[in-house]
Amino acid sequence: EKGGWSSFMAKEISEEPEAVGNTILGRTHDGLVHLEELAPIGDAALKDVDRIVIIACGTAAYAGMLGKYAIEQWARIPVDVELSHEFRYRDPILSDRTLVISISQSGETMDTLMAVKYAMASGAHVLSVCNTQGATIPRESHAVVYTHAGPEVAVASTKAFVAQVTALYLIGLHLAAVRGTLDEAAHRSAVDELASVPAKISEVLEVSQAEIGQLARWMTETQSVLFLGRHVGFPVALEGALKLKELAYIHAEGFAAGELKHGPIALIEPGQVVFVIVPSPRDPSSLHPKVVSNIQEIRARGARVIAIAEKGDAAVLPFADEVIPIPLAGSLFEPLLAVVPLHIFGMELAAAKGLDVDQPRNLAKSVTVE
Ligand code: M6R
Repeated sequence: EKGGWSSFMAKEISEEPEAVGNTILGRTHDGLVHLEELAPIGDAALKDVDRIVIIACGTAAYAGMLGKYAIEQWARIPVDVELSHEFRYRDPILSDRTLVISISQSGETMDTLMAVKYAMASGAHVLSVCNTQGATIPRESHAVVYTHAGPEVAVASTKAFVAQVTALYLIGLHLAAVRGTLDEAAHRSAVDELASVPAKISEVLEVSQAEIGQLARWMTETQSVLFLGRHVGFPVALEGALKLKELAYIHAEGFAAGELKHGPIALIEPGQVVFVIVPSPRDPSSLHPKVVSNIQEIRARGARVIAIAEKGDAAVLPFADEVIPIPLAGSLFEPLLAVVPLHIFGMELAAAKGLDVDQPRNLAKSVTVE
């Protein structure tokens, strides 16, 4: 039931804080992550893993990309992210030291199911992240970590995405604990950061809803929107673009900001709308000034820049037409906040165009054919 919301999607975006919170619930003990669900694979095998392959489609694959950053950073295991439908068609190299992690909200996506079956048959360990109890994909896997986002009805995936990222971060911390790659203080602080995400998402929802609604109403005639992000901002850019394509039927592209000068900057002409996901100025890497200089470059060519930036980030103000502020968070956790305005934007623009927000044309909630 929509419970007073204008669409299931609006309701599901409002449930993003709980989706994260409920996915964490019961999975930490004394401030450290422990996932009992991984017992069927076992600590000995998890210690021995030399490579992880994440398989998923669409939004779930973008969650997988974020999982790669976290797992590599914390557990120091190389991670590849592959689209399920590409995976088994090139004889992938798998062994009993490979951990395959599938991600699927529905647990019924045929492309992902076939990839899971392939991985099982090849002798890899297979762990699935799924939002639907008892679905086919978890039944076909060695182990499952359920996301507790609650049922997702709208075709566009929103609360499942943040729950998937949360589950992957928990898996990353569990692996780090098993393998001894992260000191306890860093593990505890990652758990604290994750636990603080639901309240921060609520803040984003409160602060950005009205501003984004207005922005969307101004943009009903827009033909093309670009999204730029770097490091963990890159999957967020891809997710923002996918939402606009599927919901508002607008041509949209997400780019890694560093790639701009290798081609996409040629697309920038006066009036082109570009969303930029800006890393925190507190980030110890030097990515913040690099992304700010990307903003200057596209602004100089007449782009209309909408920056999603940490609140109080004064460096972006002179160059952005709009700034959507997000609360302070560690860099791995920023995507869980930055993605929220983009979910709202896709929904609001579709609604402003008079389109069916929950049931976009040509799409099904779960894609059960290959
Ligand atoms: O049920 P799944 O998570 O396996 O679905 C994967 C994709 O089909 C899904 O995320 C799709 O990209 C969404 N419509 C995006 O909003």
